Amino acid sequence: MNHECSEPLPAKNIILVGFMGSGKSTIGRELGQLLSYPLIDTDSKIEENEKLSVADIFSLKGEDYFRESETLTVQQLISDGLTHHIIATGGGLPVRPENRPLLRELGYVVWLDANTDTILERTSRNSNRPLLQTENPRATIEKMLAQRNAIYQEVAHLHLQTTGLNIAETAHGILESARYFFGHS
Ligand code: S3P
Repeated sequence: MNHECSEPLPAKNIILVGFMGSGKSTIGRELGQLLSYPLIDTDSKIEENEKLSVADIFSLKGEDYFRESETLTVQQLISDGLTHHIIATGGGLPVRPENRPLLRELGYVVWLDANTDTILERTSRNSNRPLLQTENPRATIEKMLAQRNAIYQEVAHLHLQTTGLNIAETAHGILESARYFFGHS
């Protein structure tokens, strides 16, 4: 087959991108179980390397340091030749332009989208997200979504609106699309 494509062929991983509280970890766990693929969470990987929580990395080392760690983490996954994994990414990881082609090189990129109410409800359960510790989290979420939605759209092979879908429906939808994608890529 002739692959006249400017992008390298993606490795067979499924990458979940999307805003905080969009369900990446939950759906990632479900997909991992369905496919028997290990789940890698970029936030957890960075926390393990730094021996600090994401919140502490932000407060002690700054957001730029965290963003650099995100890029290094994705580069490392590519140089490890990672395949047959589910990768849940931090919500801001696709924001750096150089990370976007790297994510697509890693595999099939799925944007898990959710509405503001859903995001607010899920993220208000704990205070471990430094960017949402503001006076008005709803306004912060709306502003950040307005900045980021075009970015998620650009990086993703598949855009899935998850509000109203249950975990199993979402995971099965992703699996079906991923199988088609890998069958034709
Ligand atoms: C962030 C999302 C978080 C975490 C950090 C910054 C963001 O991950 O990486 O707090 O910029 O959207 P989750 O999307 O897993 O909450």
